[in-house]
Amino acid sequence: MHALAHIELNAIDLAWDIIARFAGSGLPREFYEDWVRVAAEEASHFALFSARLRDFGVRYGDLPAHDGLWEAAAATVGDLLARLAVVPLVLEARGLDVTPEMAMRLERAGDPTSAAILHHIYEQEIGHVAIGRRWFDRLCHGQGLIPEEVFRDRVRRFFKGELKPPFNRAARDAAGFPARYYDLDGLSER
Ligand SMILES: [Fe+2]
Ligand SMILES: [Fe+2]
Repeated sequence: MHALAHIELNAIDLAWDIIARFAGSGLPREFYEDWVRVAAEEASHFALFSARLRDFGVRYGDLPAHDGLWEAAAATVGDLLARLAVVPLVLEARGLDVTPEMAMRLERAGDPTSAAILHHIYEQEIGHVAIGRRWFDRLCHGQGLIPEEVFRDRVRRFFKGELKPPFNRAARDAAGFPARYYDLDGLSER
């Protein structure tokens, strides 16, 4: 629960960072409105987890936390396409891959309250990946670039790590994020 609260706190910062960092980049107003909405939803997620931590007598900050998400922000300060590729389309999409299993384990461990929080957040996170994909494609098309190719290029250059299957194809598809971006092996097996 503490690690999840930490992820949501970073997600709030990441949403505001994309707004501030890329202000004055000639982007339309809807770009900023989308990320304001994401920031508000991330704040509600953080509030849900910190309330749940209080049920267990813990407060956010009581345990150590990693800096991985903020490092992703720092690595992509100069490149909006890299930021969109790494944050919503790699990291938040990865969240979609792992959340259903995590919720199931919480249920099995007798904690349906925490599982319900995860289910609720999962639905909204699909929307965050969808926003990321929409702007990523729009910016690529505006520059005459092929989004799938740019995605793979930015992931290779800016993301330390591999895109790890199994992918949650159903949730990624629901976000409008097709497998041809991220799962070349899976596609060639078909
Ligand atoms: Fe979130
Ligand atoms: Fe999110």
